[in-house]
Amino acid sequence: MNEQIAILDFGSQYTQVIARRIRECNVYSVILRYDTPAAEIAKLNPKGIILSGGPSSVYASDAPLPDKRIFGMGVPILGVCFGIQLMAHYLGGKVEKGLKREYGKGNLSVQDPSCPLFEGLPENLQIWNSHGDKITKLPKGFKAVAVSDNSPFAAIEDRSKHFYGLQFHPEVVHTPRGKELISNFVHAICGCGKDWTMANYVDQAVEAIRAQVGTERVILGLSGGVDSSVAAALLHKAIGDQLTCIFVNNGLLRAREADIVQEVFGRHFKIKLQYEDSTRIFLSRLKGILDPERKRKIIGKTFIEVFQDATKRAGKAKFLAQGTLYPDVIESVPIGGNPAAMIKSHHNVGGLPKNMKFKLVEPLKCLFKDEVRQLGAELGLPKEIIHRQPFPGPGLAVRILGEVNRGRCAILRNADAIVVEEMKSTGWYYKVWQSFAVLLPIRSVGVMGDERTYEYTIALRVVESQDGMTADWVKLPYEILERISSRIINEVTGVNRVCFDISSKPPATIEWE
Ligand code: XMP
Repeated sequence: MNEQIAILDFGSQYTQVIARRIRECNVYSVILRYDTPAAEIAKLNPKGIILSGGPSSVYASDAPLPDKRIFGMGVPILGVCFGIQLMAHYLGGKVEKGLKREYGKGNLSVQDPSCPLFEGLPENLQIWNSHGDKITKLPKGFKAVAVSDNSPFAAIEDRSKHFYGLQFHPEVVHTPRGKELISNFVHAICGCGKDWTMANYVDQAVEAIRAQVGTERVILGLSGGVDSSVAAALLHKAIGDQLTCIFVNNGLLRAREADIVQEVFGRHFKIKLQYEDSTRIFLSRLKGILDPERKRKIIGKTFIEVFQDATKRAGKAKFLAQGTLYPDVIESVPIGGNPAAMIKSHHNVGGLPKNMKFKLVEPLKCLFKDEVRQLGAELGLPKEIIHRQPFPGPGLAVRILGEVNRGRCAILRNADAIVVEEMKSTGWYYKVWQSFAVLLPIRSVGVMGDERTYEYTIALRVVESQDGMTADWVKLPYEILERISSRIINEVTGVNRVCFDISSKPPATIEWE
């Protein structure tokens, strides 16, 4: 078992960021509900505990409070933001409502550089705050080790008990040296080594998969996206030919997508790949359908039918593999205004019906997305797959406004291929969240040579985002926009106009639909 740090989640939007920062220090971390009993936490044998931030006040009647016995476990504890206030409140100090909320950038001045949290760090640091309440009296045994512009207790410690607290957020990028603070906590204070690496994980995961699956067969729905691709490569390493991947071509894929999957998984990895060309059935069911929600429903339902049918032909299998990730399985904390909970439900749309009689194998379910990418690289998957931009399950259908048909798919596919090609060749593809073409069903007049044309418009959508929940349009250099536009208009028959979408999300969305 890996050494690990347990994070108690009090509903902060940054809890997952804390977990990721710790893992970036090559230490495994798990997120637990704030009220997990101390005895349950002890079973994990954590080397340290972090109390996350959260939107509540410690003195509110409905404040989320942890099991007090965690302070008697003899394990180092770091309280962050709400977590530091909780420590003060629980251990005999005092927390009061601040006169004004402290939000945004601040400066920290370290008073006691011998504090192990600040080892190797300068005495003045830029930090990020986001809190309303503040500590007005420290608990017995504690002292302040750093002050900020507005707080005499910005960092506190009870070194003899290995209890530490930070009023600001060390996990966010706006605290530029915050990762070193976290590293000091997990390495210098908790004594963790660096045993969490993807190379180690491959061996552990292979063993765990073999133990779970035995000699049974496993089916995996391969979409060509990052998660299912990495899951396929990992399972194949563990169980070889006991794995069958089913790849459904719904006719709504981008250029070369089906070829790449067959090339990489079929020919290179030699994975048993069952290729289902279901273009005809999907497109026939989408005929005449204009409403975006109906399109989605039809595609979702048809996928289930096609996939279920394909599994029957794949032969008897006991297990179904899924590329579920850690953020999908973290039990969200039901605290008002917790955006982390909303992100989760948004991305959990779709999926297969519960009545499919398979046991699940989920070899990525303790990994974050960036770790899945590292794992993919470790397994030898090409960059093209590992760093693929997100692509919606209903594919090009959500990027063709109005009716979806073979002709419109072909136009959009050709235009999109140019966008991808230009974004890749200029290096922008890997810098942005998504970059793609959208086909608008309206035609407008143009001229080509001496001819009048009456053709479709392509909208170009290029956004940056952290998680797809909010997004901003990317200020691409004019020369790139110019090249993409002129190539689409010259090379794609059926298009005579290209627009650039300059809306952010919210209020717009990333896809057009
Ligand atoms: P919107 O358009 O809601 O998209 O701003 C947010 C992010 O979600 C992706 N998206 C989907 N992903 N299945 C998916 O796996 C879907 O049905 C789906 N719809 C949208 C979208 O590409 C963007 O990254």
